[in-house]
This record gives sequence, C-alpha cells and structure tokens, in this order.
Amino acid sequence: TGHLDDIQELRRVQPSVVPERYVRKNDEQPAQSMVCTSLEVPVINMQNLEGDCGYQELARLTAACQDWGFFQVMNHGIEEGLLDAMEAVAREFFMLPLEEKEKYPLAPGTIQGYGHAFVFSEEQKLDWCNMLALGVEPAFIRNPKLWPTKPENFSETLELYSAKVRSLCQKLLAHIAHTLGISSDTFNQMFGEAVQAVRINYYPPCARPDLVLGLSSHSDGSAITVLQQDTACVGLQVLKDDTWVPVNPLPHALVINIGDTLEVLTNGKYKSVEHRAVTNQDRERLSIVTFYAPSYDVLLGPLPELVTQNEPTKYKTYNHGEYSRHYVTNRLQGKKTLEFAKIPTI
Ligand code: SIN
Ligand code: FE2
Repeated sequence: TGHLDDIQELRRVQPSVVPERYVRKNDEQPAQSMVCTSLEVPVINMQNLEGDCGYQELARLTAACQDWGFFQVMNHGIEEGLLDAMEAVAREFFMLPLEEKEKYPLAPGTIQGYGHAFVFSEEQKLDWCNMLALGVEPAFIRNPKLWPTKPENFSETLELYSAKVRSLCQKLLAHIAHTLGISSDTFNQMFGEAVQAVRINYYPPCARPDLVLGLSSHSDGSAITVLQQDTACVGLQVLKDDTWVPVNPLPHALVINIGDTLEVLTNGKYKSVEHRAVTNQDRERLSIVTFYAPSYDVLLGPLPELVTQNEPTKYKTYNHGEYSRHYVTNRLQGKKTLEFAKIPTI
C-alpha cells in the first residue's frame, strides 16, 4: 500500500523489513567500504579567528580547506538555544502523521517539498531518509505553500535560524577568502543576493545499516554548506584518501563543507568533497543542512587571481542558475555533477 512507501510508516508496521529498492549493489554497501575511525575532521574555533592570534587559526582553516574540504566550527556565534529550537521544530515536523507531511509534496521539477528528491528512474536505489527541502533566500525562490504550518512555530524558527546561518556563511566566506590571499569581501561581493536553501534530513533506524545508505554519496552544488546534526549517533561520513571518515557530532558545533561552486572559483585549490550518510540499527538521526550559493545570474569561473601559468584554468565559465538546474536534474552520484564545469584535459 501507498503509505508503506514511506520508511517511517514501514518502520512502524514492519520494523525488520528493508525493501529491495533500498538495498544497494555490493560496491555501494556501507559494509563493503573502508571506514577509518581514527581520523577526525578538523575543528575550527571561530573565536580564535577573530582574536589576536588569528593567524594560527587561519593557518588551521587553510589546512582544513585544502586537506579536507570539511571541518566543524565551534564558537560560531549562533545561540545554542536557537540551534536547539530549530532541531526541535524539525523533529516535530517529522513526527507528524504522514497525511500532514504529504500536504507539502515535492514540487515536480524542483527539489522543494517533502519526499525523495533526486529520483529519476524506477531502477534507482532509494536513500533511507525522509527529507523536507525549502528555498529560503532570496524571497523569489520561496514557495510559501511548502512551509509547514505545523508545528506552529516552524516558519518563525526557520526564519530566525536562516538569518543567523546566512551571516555565518558570509563570515566564513570572508575568512576563506583571507586564506586564499584575496580580498576578504571577494566572494560576498561577487555572490550578490546569495541563494540560500535548507534541507532537513530524517533518518529512521534501519534493520540493515550494512546494506542501505541514508544518503547517497555526493558533493554539494553550493559554495559552502552548513550542517547541524543531532548527537544521537554518527551518520555523516566524508571521503578522505579513498576511505570514509565519520564526522562525530560535537554538541552545538556546526559542520561546514566546501561545495562545487567554491571548487570552481578557486580553480580547484579547494575541492568539494564527497560525503554520504549511513543509518543506525537502533537510533534515528536528524540533520539540518543549509546550502549557500551565489545569486543565479552570477557568472562563475576560476578567479583570475587563482589562475597562473602553473595552474591554468580547469573549469569553464557559466552562471550559477545553469549549474543549479544541472544539479537538481541529476541523481546524486559522487562528484559526477561537477563534470559539467570541467574543461577536458588532453
Ligand atoms: C547532506 O549531505 O545533505 C546531509 C548528510 C547528513 O545528514 O549528515
Ligand atoms: Fe551534502
């Protein structure tokens, strides 16, 4: 029946069942890949970046961008109470009856709404995850009909949260520009009225975490992404030197990663990094992800400052709207989407 197509419903009725549609082929099964639990993504203390010895933390940020493309930030300036409130309304939304959540169906041809985004064929395996994705800024990308009216304070909380995350993104982009030796306002000026979208991922427990993925491996299309995760269990994994490194949740820290757009702008100096989510047998997991990207009309290509004789341009020039359309009309598959922007090498 229809409602068993929803993994939360299925889980309630038949907790041990994992439909074929979710079972990955061998090479994609979490149990078949190398996981390295002795490495940790770097943690950046943002307060230090702004302090007297800022250069030391800036050097750590440079290394984090170069070697990992992923890091956690602490002392990021967003009140813990607001993070908790956002997590609470997100969780309440996913706990609502399916009929309520289905009032916000994925709008065709977009990735906004509740449901399985990035699915384009019957054969495609599904992620063990329920998602709610919403455009936030600029106002014209919003689809107000898709903003939940339950829980009652959802929209208000998301609004407050998004404003804070937006200024965090701008701060981070200024620091990242600094690490590249270019003017701090380079990205923020260039991005114009930056596009901001949020996706809330809810991963129910799964009887066979060895066989399924919570979220397929992918890199983000954004410039940068800010991810808030609950501390219930570890789920996010980052690909580093061909092994998967779990990102251990630190209470009230945020996970930052570099997206495809920043890879192009930096001419590959900083790379977007593949990541995926795995599931857990006993525990549900929640993550709240903000994508931050240039305005759609902004022309993107490697910054002239970062193109040299030794580092000739590796990517073509296109506008962000084109890339965004390309990204949302293809399934999540490692770094495949970025091939769109690559100049073929001979
Ligand atoms: C994502 O990459 O969008 C989310 C991964 C996670 O849930 O940690
Ligand atoms: Fe992602």
